[in-house]
Amino acid sequence: SIQTAWGGRFQSAGAKWVDEFGASIDFDQLMAHEDIEGSLAHVQMLGHTGILTNPEVQQIKTGLEDLQADLDTGKLSFSVEREDIHMNLEALLTEKIGPVAGKLHTARSRNDQVATDFHLYLKHRLPLIIETIKELQTALVQRAEENVETIMPGYTHLQHAQPISYGHYLMAYYAMLKRDVERFEFNQHHTDIMPLGSAALAGTTFPIDREYTAQLLDFNQIYTNSLDAVSDRDFALEFLSNASILMMHLSRLSEELISWCSYEFNYLEMADEFSTGSSIMPQKKNPDMAELTRGKTGRVYGHLMGLLTTMKGLPLAYNKDMQEDKEGVFDTVKTIIPCLKVMTGMIKTLSVHPDKMAAATQNDFSNATELADYLATKGIPFRQAHAIVGNLVYEGLQSGKNLQDISLADYQKIEPRIEEDVYQVLDPKVAVQRRTSLGGTGFDQVKAQIKQAHAELD
Ligand code: ARG
Repeated sequence: SIQTAWGGRFQSAGAKWVDEFGASIDFDQLMAHEDIEGSLAHVQMLGHTGILTNPEVQQIKTGLEDLQADLDTGKLSFSVEREDIHMNLEALLTEKIGPVAGKLHTARSRNDQVATDFHLYLKHRLPLIIETIKELQTALVQRAEENVETIMPGYTHLQHAQPISYGHYLMAYYAMLKRDVERFEFNQHHTDIMPLGSAALAGTTFPIDREYTAQLLDFNQIYTNSLDAVSDRDFALEFLSNASILMMHLSRLSEELISWCSYEFNYLEMADEFSTGSSIMPQKKNPDMAELTRGKTGRVYGHLMGLLTTMKGLPLAYNKDMQEDKEGVFDTVKTIIPCLKVMTGMIKTLSVHPDKMAAATQNDFSNATELADYLATKGIPFRQAHAIVGNLVYEGLQSGKNLQDISLADYQKIEPRIEEDVYQVLDPKVAVQRRTSLGGTGFDQVKAQIKQAHAELD
């Protein structure tokens, strides 16, 4: 027989390169802390239930605590021959305390162990992710507060549609991020379920106490089906899916920041700290960090598609395919947090050009809806009002006249019910202010959103 965890059954060891192919230690060492945490709870439960004696439990516990200390001070080194973090740590424990270490794996399998570690890994990181989203939300609300009355063109099809408040625009991203927070909070429920105690797939004949272990690990729930427990990766897929939606939001915001910092729009200017120059063109100021955020969206989507595809059609229960579940999730955590931080920094330091935004609403036809609405309030059916204004726009485009440039005499020739107050209505700022319907861009509505946001963030 050979010297591995399953040596008894085997006559020859695999070639080194095959071991390397099968190993996950290169990446799953990121869960070293969680693995020790899980083992500590497990061994305590084995003592509590009398499956191991107290002296055995004490030795194993002390050994695990030593391992944790070594891990914290960077003294642990792992090897590919030991395949993964679970077997590496068990081997290191054996080096420390001798053969009694072998009792730790009583009533446990790597299948419930790895699932538990992975749940703990995500459970530990979701609060930070939620916190980091909220920091971006806070930055958006601050900027919205300063810009309730900053008027800019609102777009549909990237064509001028109607003037809006820049604060309203910023609060739209706040609202998207609020749903992201809710999705990650929901994700916490499915991450907060303990697989440990399911053993390889069928449970165990040992008199374990899963409630006790769950309490020690602070798990809110326990998987009630052992097959499901060791083969469920829904919580990871939900995480990747939530992260993908979050990145989609960040990529849209990035795209707009990039466009609006361009010479053509010039609504915004990115702070130097978040821009780069060109090694050849001295005038350049490039919004690299926004572009990179937009670009990183691709890898997060890729991780979602990767894990969905890995899990597709897998028979119950554990299959080695599932070792592929971790890297995408780790990389996603490593990606979304800095993207959120960079976006927060960009939003906080962005300079706004209100004059440029306003100018873009003053020399266009984005007040056409105002005139149509005005005619409708005078009793003209909206469809007819729409046609009248459409004609005026057509003529204005030929003559170079905007709607506010048409004289009252000319207006009254078209429709005698038009009066002097029409010019007030055509003012973009007034157009924004008057949109007081619930959730509209009217100043009071934007202020109401901001007020609610403060309550939500506290
Ligand atoms: N390294 C494995 C993984 O990441 C641990 C579980 C292995 N279990 C097994 N029976 N091969 O999925």
